[in-house]
Amino acid sequence: MTDALTTLSVDWCTGRNGIFVIAAAAAVVTGVFVANHLNPADKDAERFKKLAKLPSPPGAVPILGHLLVVGTSPHLKFSEWGKTLGPIFAVKMGSSRTWVVHNSPDVVRDILDRRGATFSDRVQTHLLEAISGNGDMFFMSANGPYLRAWRKHTNNTISKTRLEKDYSNIFKSETKRLLLNLLERGNVGPEGIDPFDDVYLYVINVISLIVFGKNFTKDDADYRQVLQITIDFIQVGSKVLEEFFPFLSPLYRGAIGRAAKVQFEIQQVFGRFVDEVKQDMKEGNERNCACNEYLKAQETDEEGHLYDKASADTSAIALLGGMSMLARQPEIQDRAFAEIKANIGLDRLPNDMDESSLPYTNAIITELLRFRPPSWFGIPHSNLYDEEYNGYHIPANSAHVINVHGLHFDPDTYPDPYAFKPERHLDADNTRQHYAFGAGRRICPGAFLAEKLIFTTLARLLWAFRIEPSLDAQRNPVEVPMPDITKPTPIPPRINVRFVPRHDNVERLCRA
Ligand code: HEM
Repeated sequence: MTDALTTLSVDWCTGRNGIFVIAAAAAVVTGVFVANHLNPADKDAERFKKLAKLPSPPGAVPILGHLLVVGTSPHLKFSEWGKTLGPIFAVKMGSSRTWVVHNSPDVVRDILDRRGATFSDRVQTHLLEAISGNGDMFFMSANGPYLRAWRKHTNNTISKTRLEKDYSNIFKSETKRLLLNLLERGNVGPEGIDPFDDVYLYVINVISLIVFGKNFTKDDADYRQVLQITIDFIQVGSKVLEEFFPFLSPLYRGAIGRAAKVQFEIQQVFGRFVDEVKQDMKEGNERNCACNEYLKAQETDEEGHLYDKASADTSAIALLGGMSMLARQPEIQDRAFAEIKANIGLDRLPNDMDESSLPYTNAIITELLRFRPPSWFGIPHSNLYDEEYNGYHIPANSAHVINVHGLHFDPDTYPDPYAFKPERHLDADNTRQHYAFGAGRRICPGAFLAEKLIFTTLARLLWAFRIEPSLDAQRNPVEVPMPDITKPTPIPPRINVRFVPRHDNVERLCRA
């Protein structure tokens, strides 16, 4: 060290090279100082710059990104791109937002499941803020204590065990009401009926009974309001795709106004339902419902938010999609009926506890959620900070979407993927069969409820009826449409079918 200092001082004094030595030393010292005092994010910024960029499809242009090439069915385009770009790739939506598309089960598991602490935020947009009351509704809230408290409550209140212990009667009584409605009207004329209204009334009642201990008739003013909010919520929420393209803002300004209006109505209507539960509690008539439990836990006064508006819509979409697929494939109905008849019999209705005795009926539901999940994108996750994955840079605030279409129609996982084949799930191992409920820490907390609801309904429908196409003037069957795969957002299919009773016990047991 002394030698070096001596040399330095000599050089400093003796020549031009000395200046460079001093400069180099200063640079090293400064570098070390700066490196030690920089905040970690800045250090990381340097590291991230060196990482590879995620592969990205061709066709991006300045400002618009991939807008001109993504088309009107982005999920189909993502699947097409996935074939050449591999398990993970990036799409630029407009000038700012990067969408990271998860195109393989391994990527979903590595990023969303295993690194949940980092990849569990939500993409904030004006529209989503407006419709969620600035993240008050927990499907949009940031990853933090508020979200954790909500998810804990929800998981406790509508866990599989709690549903079986406390709410099994709701599934039983409400499905009977549905079956009786269909029995009364479903086979009167050859034109059949569109079960849309019956299914929405039924689903809203099941969820509303579990959450608020309250149900409706179709003529109740409250019901009409809840139905309208449920439909508006999904329709306005689906405009979010447009919001990713900033230059479209003049077009979606109307949508933001509508989103704020829906949020206002949510506060009004569900706030009133919460007040009713509070009032009953005060008067010593506690209701057996999730809201009552939330109130008792008193950690939050936003109990109405458990009734996630999308929850009724997604479940109704799944059921209506199921009816259309069953009407198209009578042999599936016959096989399920044979299973139900053999394992349950015709002297009682199947119920939500019969899942393990009815593997084929269960497989129909799994296939339904694979074949036509209520949403192709779910709700995008986000990462607040820059991250690395397998040597790639994942920019901060990216929107992470599972390419549900690509994963669900991968022929290596599901041979003959465009055929509706429940039996493919009968011998399935324990790996995840579908991604309809999302993944990681934001995975749908209503999945057990939704599965129970869909199972009980379809098992009972299959026990009671043959679902058949309507007949035209010449009494030929009219083809029942499949839910449209090209639509990027969930739209409940409108169908006309006949519900033909299979045996004489239907009415008697449904009235019992
Ligand atoms: C077939 C029916 C349903 C489907 C397909 C479905 C699907 C989904 C999906 C894909 C997500 C986003 C998951 C993610 O971010 O990775 C989600 C979130 C959510 N779902 Fe469901 N859902 C259904 C029914 C329900 C029901 C019945 C409820 C409650 C009663 C519910 C409550 C929620 C809530 C509160 C969230 C937000 C969770 C969060 O952000 O942490 N869902 N759902």
